[in-house]
Amino acid sequence: MIILVENLQKRYDWHTALDGLDFSVEEGDIFGFLGPNGAGKTTTIRILTGITRADSGRVLIDGHNVNTESAEIKKIINAFPESSGYYEWMTAYEYLEFFSHLYNEKRLRRETCKLIESVGLQGKENHLIYTFSRGMKQRLGIARALINRPRILFLDEPANGLDPKGRKDIHDLLINLNREHGTTIFLSTHLLDDVERLCNRIAIINFGKIVRTGDVKKIEGKGTIEDIFFLSTQGGAP
Ligand SMILES: Nc1ncnc2c1ncn2[C@@H]1O[C@H](COP(=O)(O)OP(=O)(O)OP(=O)(O)O)[C@@H](O)[C@H]1O
Ligand SMILES: [Mg+2]
Repeated sequence: MIILVENLQKRYDWHTALDGLDFSVEEGDIFGFLGPNGAGKTTTIRILTGITRADSGRVLIDGHNVNTESAEIKKIINAFPESSGYYEWMTAYEYLEFFSHLYNEKRLRRETCKLIESVGLQGKENHLIYTFSRGMKQRLGIARALINRPRILFLDEPANGLDPKGRKDIHDLLINLNREHGTTIFLSTHLLDDVERLCNRIAIINFGKIVRTGDVKKIEGKGTIEDIFFLSTQGGAP
């Protein structure tokens, strides 16, 4: 297994955000991480990607401990966070070049342009980011998350704010990454039909605990993902 999460606890002052979270992800999974608002999805992703520390519990990414071996982990992961800033005075091309340098990735101009094209921003390479719509910034953020060719890609609501074409482009891109490069995809989303289309496994989190995990095909035999979601969360966290 490529991600192992054991008994993760996280409090923010008096509020328990994660309350003994346990799950695992296999290499090559497109893993759907579902749960109502406030359930603990972003907190989990922030811990798994080393942005925040858990109070207790254990996370192994490809066998490396997030607390002690973050340098190893950073080489093989990347993330599209829930909210991110963009250097608006740069062009799309300059922005991706900047992150390539941070990752010590040597890229030819045409490779960067191909990446820009793969997220549907062809022709926009030399446009300044401040002229981009929200959906276009979203696409650029996804390109940024691919800059180091990660083996594991964490996406926190990547389709948020995208039009139907944008959603479809992102689906196709994720499916291609998964099929062609075997990229493991950890996807947090509220779009349950996207989950049905994309994911092979899911976990549902509610009040900081996993309330359901399973194989999408097996779950579908028992009802829709939406049915299972409402049954497992009883309408959700406050
Ligand atoms: N920095 C913080 N300080 C205090 N409380 C926080 C902080 N970040 C998150 N929380 C709380 O922790 C809980 C889990 O939040 P989290 O952002 O992980 O939820 P989520 O599942 O990502 O929700 P959403 O679907 O709305 O994005 C919430 O109750 C939230 O209010
Ligand atoms: Mg969130």
